[in-house]
Amino acid sequence: MLETIKQTADYLKDRIGEIPNTAIILGTGLGELANEIEDKTDIPYTEIPNFPVSTVEGHSGKLIIGTLGGKKVLAMQGRFHYYEGYTMKEVTFPIRVFQALNIEYLFVSNAAGGMNSSFDVGDIMLIEDHINLFPEHPLHGKNYKELGTRFPDMSEAYNKELRLKAMEVANKKNIKLQHGVYIGLTGPTFETPAEYNYLRIIGGDAVGMSTVPEVIVANHAGMKVLAFSIITDLGVIGKIVEVSHEEVQIAAKIAQPKMAEIMRTIVQEI
Ligand code: HPA
Repeated sequence: MLETIKQTADYLKDRIGEIPNTAIILGTGLGELANEIEDKTDIPYTEIPNFPVSTVEGHSGKLIIGTLGGKKVLAMQGRFHYYEGYTMKEVTFPIRVFQALNIEYLFVSNAAGGMNSSFDVGDIMLIEDHINLFPEHPLHGKNYKELGTRFPDMSEAYNKELRLKAMEVANKKNIKLQHGVYIGLTGPTFETPAEYNYLRIIGGDAVGMSTVPEVIVANHAGMKVLAFSIITDLGVIGKIVEVSHEEVQIAAKIAQPKMAEIMRTIVQEI
């Protein structure tokens, strides 16, 4: 495992040159943020040794290196979901490569269903914490101490300083920013009304099929995480309507520029 990570990191070092301090994962429908990255080079996942290949519609599957607001960043357009059949080690492999590249900050985005009754479709939710409902843990199995401690602390999985910065930026730029707890589960089904209700009762504000594995591994790796959910549909009792992947993509695309604005501003400051 360590050798595989090193091989991929070495390949990317050769192709990227100077390594940025921030990596960004672009979620479903949020790939357009990549258009705001300037002077960019794309590296399709198929060219990267040991990288899994993304299959889901709306995830084109490439690494993008370029500048966001004048600052060099590395972005993943397309991530690996557990529901696609990848193991948790595959889902989180890119994070291990980022760790080997000494990347310090991980920005994550996703599309999510909102259970909080004050949320609307198109809202951006700053993730303050999560609940892991995946059936397999990304750190299950042998722990390599070179990668992190056996029992990682998760008391501030989403870096407080970055969260405060995000709130400050949103406030200054008049961007409505919700905040709350994200629940990660496998999908690929969207939830039944009873499941949305249950997820609300156990403390969730939004639910989706990603993010939690990557954030766990990023914490294990000692990275600072900032994450946003775009609320693409509502799991609020009384407001639940049929939802499709296409609708999720459309809603995410509409909210995307606001999230990009927040990310761009913060990236310049760190
Ligand atoms: N549930 C799970 N995942 C999602 C949802 C949802 O309602 N919306 C977008 N991704």
